[in-house]
Amino acid sequence: MKEQLENIYNSAKSDIDNAQSINDIENIRLKYLSRKGEFNSIKKGLKDLSDEEKRTVGALANQITKDLEDMLKAKHDVFYQKELRAKLEQERIDITLSSKFTPLGKIHPLTSTTNEIVSIFQNLGFSVVPTELSPEVETEYYNFDMLNVPKEHPARDVQDTFYVKDMPGVVLRSQTSGAQIHVMENQKPPIKVVSPGRVYRNENINARKNNFFHQIEGLYIDKDITFGDLKGVLNEFIRLYFGSTRPTRFRSSFFPFTEPSAEVDVQCIMCQGKGCRICGGTGWLEILGCGMVDINVLKGVGIDPEVYSGFAFGMGIERLAMLKYAIDDIRLFFNNDKRFLEQF
Ligand code: DAH
Repeated sequence: MKEQLENIYNSAKSDIDNAQSINDIENIRLKYLSRKGEFNSIKKGLKDLSDEEKRTVGALANQITKDLEDMLKAKHDVFYQKELRAKLEQERIDITLSSKFTPLGKIHPLTSTTNEIVSIFQNLGFSVVPTELSPEVETEYYNFDMLNVPKEHPARDVQDTFYVKDMPGVVLRSQTSGAQIHVMENQKPPIKVVSPGRVYRNENINARKNNFFHQIEGLYIDKDITFGDLKGVLNEFIRLYFGSTRPTRFRSSFFPFTEPSAEVDVQCIMCQGKGCRICGGTGWLEILGCGMVDINVLKGVGIDPEVYSGFAFGMGIERLAMLKYAIDDIRLFFNNDKRFLEQF
């Protein structure tokens, strides 16, 4: 019986040595070690042996079983590793391959500048005029008449303003100031609003001028509003928009719809005030017009100038963006060159 066991052991061992795969190993295990396997049928004969023989042969049988199990396990692990490696190799991902580039859309710099300006004014207590009170196709009545612009004013000339064909008195608005009139016709003071939007002018296009551009209009009407309030609000805006380090100046000016009127200049970002091509050698760039709302304008919309006063302002959004980001040509905003747009 001992011999039989050893024969089975030897034949199992040589089977294991010749095995080629996990599958072979499994078949060998079934052949020798399963309940119906060769080994078990021999072990059944143990019961016919003497006690003494049972002990030695039994011990040998156990030893052989254990040895075979260990050998099967070791061989199984070798095949397992080998097959795993082959599988991984086959499913390998080439991480050196460059990925597909999916470009992301971005907010246009004029839009983000507008959003930033609007949010500064919102923080200063201004609200935004609904778009129906600030139309781009306007009448001369709102764009000029109600703003106290005389009939013979040069701005009304077709050289400066686009008139809509076959529609007398209809223009593409040349300024956002008309929104002031719409708001005052629709709302009683106190009024504290801003209104951004596109305006059109019949200009020769160059680095500084385009035939459409964007403005943001502001209007604050209440009791006891003074020029001091105007300066306070605009200086605070400039401080928040540019940071406190940028020099500015108020310069007296004239607009038909404000009295007194002023313009605000910011030190030229390109030359730091030394004077260059962009600022025309002055070291300053104008960013807005402003003033105390003219009594005639208030009267026109039925607001009593004895009770109320207010200020208004209009600033160029392109100008503000150009100053902040050192952009030296207004046309860059409109020709959609990706090399420009991608920088924002
Ligand atoms: N509308 C003027 C322009 O386009 C700018 C302006 C000046 C607006 C004074 C105002 C203001 O509201 O009070 O040049």
